[in-house]
Amino acid sequence: MIINSKLWLNLKSKAINGQQKISVIGVGYVGLCTAVGLASKGYFVTACDIDPEKIKKINRGIPPFYEPDLQEKLSECIKKGTLKGLHKQTNRAIEETDFTFVAVGTPSKPDGSIDLKYIEEAAGNIGLALKEKETYHVIIIKSTVAPGTTQNLVKPILEQKSNKKCGKDFGLCMNPEFLRQGSAFNDTLNADRVVIGSYDQRSGDSLEALYRDFYKPQAPPIIRTTLSTAELIKYASNAMLATKISFINTIANICEKIPSADVKVVAKAMGLDKRIGPLFLDAGLGYGGSCFPKDVKALIACSKNFGYDPELLESTENVNKKQPLKAVALARQQLGTLKDKKIAILGLAFKPDTDDMREARVIPIINQLIAEDAHVVAYDPVASSTAKFIFKSEITYTTSLSSCLQDTDLCILVTEWPEFKNLKPEDFIKYMKHPNLIDGRRIYNPQEFREKLNFTAIGLGP
Ligand code: UGA
Repeated sequence: MIINSKLWLNLKSKAINGQQKISVIGVGYVGLCTAVGLASKGYFVTACDIDPEKIKKINRGIPPFYEPDLQEKLSECIKKGTLKGLHKQTNRAIEETDFTFVAVGTPSKPDGSIDLKYIEEAAGNIGLALKEKETYHVIIIKSTVAPGTTQNLVKPILEQKSNKKCGKDFGLCMNPEFLRQGSAFNDTLNADRVVIGSYDQRSGDSLEALYRDFYKPQAPPIIRTTLSTAELIKYASNAMLATKISFINTIANICEKIPSADVKVVAKAMGLDKRIGPLFLDAGLGYGGSCFPKDVKALIACSKNFGYDPELLESTENVNKKQPLKAVALARQQLGTLKDKKIAILGLAFKPDTDDMREARVIPIINQLIAEDAHVVAYDPVASSTAKFIFKSEITYTTSLSSCLQDTDLCILVTEWPEFKNLKPEDFIKYMKHPNLIDGRRIYNPQEFREKLNFTAIGLGP
């Protein structure tokens, strides 16, 4: 069914054909995947953002960032008329819908705590719009915020600007998101759990009903709780995964001191213990991205604010800071000095299937190589244009794997893209001047590679 835009406007917040109308403020990964996820199931979704370029793209069916499956689903929704983008115009988004998900950014401040300016701005605009609205409306905070933020910052702004009462005139929930970049759209449709923190029973019941309708009989477990507990669940989940990674990287560093030890085998055996589980035990060069580094820092800052010193989390962060430089130390072991050496870097994105380089572990690696006067040549299937903003002309960018490896003295595998996984020792020997390889993500078989080239890897004993 194609919905004509006049019909949409005239119906204001009334559901069309029984489907709820929903708005999403902020169209980053979380906001856009939520919006497209809902619209792909037939809900009528209005996506708002302060960036006019993003909205223009969305209305043309083009996601403003790379994410598998999103392009196809977004253009389908735009064609069907279940999704539309609005530049700013929060008023109109609130007026036309029943639920509003807030998914604006919460960037890190220099002290590690989060900057709430976009949350404050969004809450202020929503509050002003609620003032004009006659019917009940539920506001849902999806952005990652420190425990207490929804209750102590968002609620007062909404009440003050709307001159209305939370829990009576409008509802308020905190509903953290657990999607991963690279599989963000799929994660939106197939969640392990839904966490709903609510200010009052009615707000939580309304959102739970929406999720039950969205997932139909396949609804995952839905956890109902308070606003602050929901906020903490998000931080605790990311901090646990980050700690698991720093833990296995610590074991990897120990393995490197023990003859014939191998962290991959250690992790495999550990993971078979049901209490430990196999996931997030891949040793490597550390965690990057827009979430783990920021959220661990924020949880540390917020714990300290509450008067608790979270030593474990500080260790998680410290291990992660040092881990990428292990690749440079291994390079020195293989080459002696790095001065004037030509070093190939395979992979720039913080993980495969994304062009995102926020907090990518390759950044400290390349900076250190440059500081030691090495000549860096890099290749990534999609992230080279992002890298150009970071390293400018300080490194050489290539458009193919073979041209990246050509005549190099050493190669460091940084991101485990599928096309790198299929490489054989012969591929390195064919192009490199000196076939020295460091496997930073443990994707190659050490027996096979050690036989044919000068091979070292994270977590591999001598
Ligand atoms: C992470 C969480 O996995 C999501 O559940 C969460 O919703 C999201 O943050 C968020 O807060 O928005 P994401 O940052 O997209 O998702 O990426 P992950 O797949 O978790 O990987 C993060 C980093 O950890 C990557 O650099 C990856 O290479 C590294 N990693 C992951 C390891 O080094 N070892 C592992 O075993 C797993």
